[in-house]
Amino acid sequence: MAKVKGEISERELQELRQQRQDSQSREKLRRSIEDESAAGLWTRRDFFGRLAWSGLGGISLVGLLAAVRSAFPRVLFRPDTSFEAGMIDEFPVGEVSEKFIRDYRVWIVREDRGIYALFAKCTHLGCTPRWLKSDDKFKCPCHGSGFYRSGINFEGPAPRPLERVRVSLAEDGQLLVDVGVKYRQEKGDWDRPGAYLRV
Ligand code: FES
Repeated sequence: MAKVKGEISERELQELRQQRQDSQSREKLRRSIEDESAAGLWTRRDFFGRLAWSGLGGISLVGLLAAVRSAFPRVLFRPDTSFEAGMIDEFPVGEVSEKFIRDYRVWIVREDRGIYALFAKCTHLGCTPRWLKSDDKFKCPCHGSGFYRSGINFEGPAPRPLERVRVSLAEDGQLLVDVGVKYRQEKGDWDRPGAYLRV
């Protein structure tokens, strides 16, 4: 059949259809690639977003911990049962010091070889004995118990020796006494460090 001028042949029509399909396929493929790229981009955004929030959370936690830590300053607390009694040289050898009886209920006894502290509480019923220098003994005014200067009981109803309290050297060289730590002779405590300070 002769082709009229300006008329499109069947073959040309098919080619045009094919070209349009190819074009549509390419466009579809391009959009698909763009969508995948966009999805990847959002994933990275999410990642960085989470990272940022994690960092913020970490900083907040550190700040909170620092605040809590500041509420408990790193200070070396000394128990309020202890006190510095002075330099060792302030206690003459052979003397029983009554300097701390009123405030701490303690006698400090200095010997040639060392020093110890006795708790001034009678082991009978808890009265406060007195130091009788002329008799070289401690005497309880309540029921007459007597104790040598070592603290050992030797008369009256007291069933056991006086107790010693902890003595040590403070960092500044002073005698440190802690009435919160007791040593009982009948339990063998007087052989333990703290019951006697060698000087
Ligand atoms: S309380 Fe000291 S002898 Fe009784």
